[in-house]
Amino acid sequence: MDASLEIRPAAAADAEAVAALLTDFNGEPVDGPTAARRLAALQGIETVLLALRDGAAVGLCSLRVVPFLSADHPYAEVTELYVAPEHRRQGIARRLMREAEALARAQGAPSVYLLTGFQNETAQAFYRSIGYGDYALAMRRRLI
Ligand SMILES: CC(C)(COP(=O)(O)OP(=O)(O)OC[C@H]1O[C@@H](n2cnc3c(N)ncnc32)[C@H](O)[C@@H]1OP(=O)(O)O)[C@@H](O)C(=O)NCCC(=O)NCCS
Repeated sequence: MDASLEIRPAAAADAEAVAALLTDFNGEPVDGPTAARRLAALQGIETVLLALRDGAAVGLCSLRVVPFLSADHPYAEVTELYVAPEHRRQGIARRLMREAEALARAQGAPSVYLLTGFQNETAQAFYRSIGYGDYALAMRRRLI
């Protein structure tokens, strides 16, 4: 266990750190107030887990747990996962996912779902290495 690594839910005070990670992840600038607004909107629906190494945010994972018409148990989905490049291959994403799974399980979700890109072979290799497998074909229609 890496004692310098802390995993905890992001709070409003982490908005700047979350903004920096989202900016790096998506390549589009996200500022602190925007991240703060999104974090507030996610309350009760989605938990953003932050990975901190020696106090600095180096990764995040967002877990959505929502009610499900088809069953009495909730539906759990990881909607974002990112680790800063210089901190990769050190088990940080694995730790984030295990924490997210524990949160989902604690809320009664029997499975965790996620989407990843057909081209994102790194993410696919990562998810397979921690036990995820192909489940469905994701489809979308752009509305705007
Ligand atoms: C995918 C990502 C989150 C993995 O983060 P990470 O902290 O480096 O992953 P871990 O160190 O926990 O890796 C655990 C295992 O996953 C597999 N894995 C991780 N990265 C891999 C890679 N580039 N190639 C092959 N296997 C890989 C390995 O089995 C690894 O174990 P090992 O290092 O002992 O061999 C990270 O590469 C990332 O942030 N990528 C950009 C964002 C992204 O694509 N997110 C997913 C969106 S759906």
